[in-house]
Amino acid sequence: MRLTKLENDVVGSVFLTNSQIKRHNQEIRRWDLHGEVGLLFLNILLKISSLRSHSAKNRYYFPAAAGYHFRDVKNRVNFDIIMIMPEDSLLKFEIPEVIYGLGALSQIGKCCRRLGGERILLVTDPGLIAAGWVDESIKYLAQEDLQYVIYDNVVTNPRDFQVEQGLELYRQKNCDVIAAVGGGSPIDTAKGIGILTSNHGRIHEYEGANLVTQPIPPLVCAPTTAGTGADVSQFAVITNKRANLKMAILSRAITPDITLADPLLLKTKSPELIATTGMDTLSHAIEAYVSSLSWPLTDPHAIHAIELVGKHLVNAAQTKDMDALEGMSIACLEAGMAFSNAILGAVHALAHPLGGLYDIHHGLANSLLLPVVVRQNMEHALPKFAGIARALGAETRGKSIEAVAQQVPGQLQDLIAKLGLPTRLSQVGVDEADIPHLAQMAEEDICMLTNPHCYMKAEIESMYHEVL
Ligand SMILES: [Fe+2]
Repeated sequence: MRLTKLENDVVGSVFLTNSQIKRHNQEIRRWDLHGEVGLLFLNILLKISSLRSHSAKNRYYFPAAAGYHFRDVKNRVNFDIIMIMPEDSLLKFEIPEVIYGLGALSQIGKCCRRLGGERILLVTDPGLIAAGWVDESIKYLAQEDLQYVIYDNVVTNPRDFQVEQGLELYRQKNCDVIAAVGGGSPIDTAKGIGILTSNHGRIHEYEGANLVTQPIPPLVCAPTTAGTGADVSQFAVITNKRANLKMAILSRAITPDITLADPLLLKTKSPELIATTGMDTLSHAIEAYVSSLSWPLTDPHAIHAIELVGKHLVNAAQTKDMDALEGMSIACLEAGMAFSNAILGAVHALAHPLGGLYDIHHGLANSLLLPVVVRQNMEHALPKFAGIARALGAETRGKSIEAVAQQVPGQLQDLIAKLGLPTRLSQVGVDEADIPHLAQMAEEDICMLTNPHCYMKAEIESMYHEVL
């Protein structure tokens, strides 16, 4: 049986199998325990663990010293308890080199050259070509005497076959560096192409954590939305077209080498796109802040990103004021740094199936689900939600932590109303009959593992129903 434990070690977040745990020299004990005795023992273990605990289905995750397998004979249930050795609890903070500021795109040629490039695969989409940013990028590549080829058949929620098309072009033209100019879709496609270039096989084989073992070619990103954080993260999400399923790939091997965060690129975006990608940024920041893997290097970035979104998002979407766009650009960077290293939570776990099944824009899917998930998560991370309320401008004087925290869902609803975004799943075509299937996929999504509470299928179904 595959044990899906999310470990946070010096190498990165990984899934471990039984054999891998043995390789880690951890002790595996097998005990057959009857019903309540087994559960009682489990509860004692969870209580004595002073560190964070986590559960999903019948798997329990918490840092301690060994791995256990329980079989609850009476209820015919298996429990897998995997504990992280103390030395594996070392933490890392992985980010690319960041070049920030108005006009940062002008560095794209120099950066590709600096990374050893001669022939560049430029991954983008038709919208970016129409906006003139690809011509601008080509000018900078030419200034460095770089050859280039463009792959632009990329759509929202990028598909597996698009990764394969891009790979074909990379190989045909004998490229040596990948540059991505665009939002999360071109950047994730570029990461997918990079994975297959050096790891071979099909992209489906790399779904999960740390399954990308070989370094990808140098990757330079110029993000054009203040949303996905794909330019700083070790995540890529690619749609399995045949199964209508979003595959989350998590590996430090796919963290870009350089990101060129240029707020000028946000100027050509529509108000709707600024709003939805901004809500994606807010979801990243909130989920990273309350994640069970959050830590002192991720928290300050997450909370500052929340503050910046509260201050700038409405203005950025409505007026494209440059100060507001700069604020959102920094918010996106910081939220990306935080979530790439603390991972995400139930908002993304529930949003991914909506993208896979209905092709709903990722930021919009998060926006629809954020208030309901926050309401459910509230009791599991109360002090952190009080911090979020403060960052979003809540009045805190004379109020208890609980009273402060309880303001967050209302603050989010106010923000979404000001942005004019839909608030019901039925408005974007979600069919009630699909909810059991959506909930099944959400329960198994990798992002659920780091939510402050792991929800079972029935609880997830009721969250979808609440927002239907
Ligand atoms: Fe996201």
